[in-house]
Amino acid sequence: MSDDSTEPRAARPARVPRVTPLQDGPLLMEGPIEIVMPDGSVQLCERPTVALCTCRRSQRFPFCDTSHRSRVRLGDERPG
Ligand code: FES
Repeated sequence: MSDDSTEPRAARPARVPRVTPLQDGPLLMEGPIEIVMPDGSVQLCERPTVALCTCRRSQRFPFCDTSHRSRVRLGDERPG
């Protein structure tokens, strides 16, 4: 690969996509984005922020429905 500055550079997209992974929670993606659904269809999400499920507990997968909040983490159990 050449480092010649006279070569045209690939055009940078107008907006670089940003993804923010939350610990024990969803991936927050800045919208609008297109999401490939489990059935292969493509859904356009025009919200400014879209939360994508990483725990697989969401009833609305691939979207987060906050079901991850009910997950008990190891060490968080309280004696009964
Ligand atoms: S990450 Fe929120 S329901 Fe899965």
